[in-house]
Amino acid sequence: MKDINWSTLGFHYTEPDYIVRAAYHDGAWQEPYATRDKYLHLHVSATCLQYGQEAFEGLKAFRGIDGKIRIFRWRENARRMARSAEGLFMQPVPEELFGRAIRLALEKNLDFVPPYGTGSTLYFRPLLIGTTPRLGVGPGRDFEFVVIPSPIGPYYPGKFHCTSFIVNRYVDRAAPLGTGQFKVGGNYAASFRATEAAHAMGLDCLFLDSKYHRYIDECSAANFIGIKRSKVESRKSKDVIEYLTPKSSAILPSITNDSLMTLARERGYKVTRRRIQLEELAEMSEAAACGTACVISPIDRVLDPERNRTYTFGSEPGPVLSELYRALRDIQFGRAEDKHGWTEIMSQ
Ligand code: PLP
Ligand code: COI
Repeated sequence: MKDINWSTLGFHYTEPDYIVRAAYHDGAWQEPYATRDKYLHLHVSATCLQYGQEAFEGLKAFRGIDGKIRIFRWRENARRMARSAEGLFMQPVPEELFGRAIRLALEKNLDFVPPYGTGSTLYFRPLLIGTTPRLGVGPGRDFEFVVIPSPIGPYYPGKFHCTSFIVNRYVDRAAPLGTGQFKVGGNYAASFRATEAAHAMGLDCLFLDSKYHRYIDECSAANFIGIKRSKVESRKSKDVIEYLTPKSSAILPSITNDSLMTLARERGYKVTRRRIQLEELAEMSEAAACGTACVISPIDRVLDPERNRTYTFGSEPGPVLSELYRALRDIQFGRAEDKHGWTEIMSQ
């Protein structure tokens, strides 16, 4: 095991021993191979540089309580990357090749899988870029698939604590029929003006829909979840608990959100995916950002300075989101039965 202070890792790059690469040339994918070289020899006119032909993914390997290493739902990441590739007119990486590349990246970097109990994990960043030199506007026909592993700690520092958000109305991250549903670098570059301004205030950014600036879209690198409680006449003592998450063509279909929706349904919560007006935050008892990197990151307040409004959710993570967080982490770290077959044990 590497000499790394696993418990204090943040969401930062730590250089692994190996990355994995596979190229697509002459209409065929070559087999993935591991290399210590972290640099690509890229033509200056490659379509990824000229026209933004780039898509990426994010997934994690967890060392469980039993010492086994589990990868969480990698097939979903492979499928989403294939959709992103099609969205940018790139050659999709075949699912099984994606799996072999992740497995190889893990095998070659086993010493970088953080020990159980530290809260840290091995993150994989798969990347797909267009490499054909082109000046005329159009897609390339050569591609490079790369898997970059890195051990990481929490995305938001502190273990399971609250983060504050600010509503953004002056930068549109992704258009309704644009690339928001794909995981492509351009979406993130387009959000930097807003997110960096928010970070400078110690906040993160909540993006509204780009057409009306009225509905919640998502956070800069995570989906949004809200919890509503309501009394029902016929069920005197019990509240109905509703898990609400935005439906929008401009947001990334989050694999974490999908998993949490399943866990929420299993617990008898009502799960609703629909357009959510910003003002509905006032009716929510809990709110959070969710994603691979941030897991569930509870929100304590959302500031809307332009409307002179602040929505508050309490300074501690609420009971519903805490329960879902525990349930998801228990599966990922092998503490609970994986009824859904979400984890794949890749190595002992
Ligand atoms: N939305 C955006 C914009 C993201 O960058 C991410 C992170 O991957 C997510 C949502 C969450 O997706 P997932 O849960 O699949 O990681
Ligand atoms: C993830 O959650 O895996 C992400 O990719 C989000 C962000 C760090 C880009």
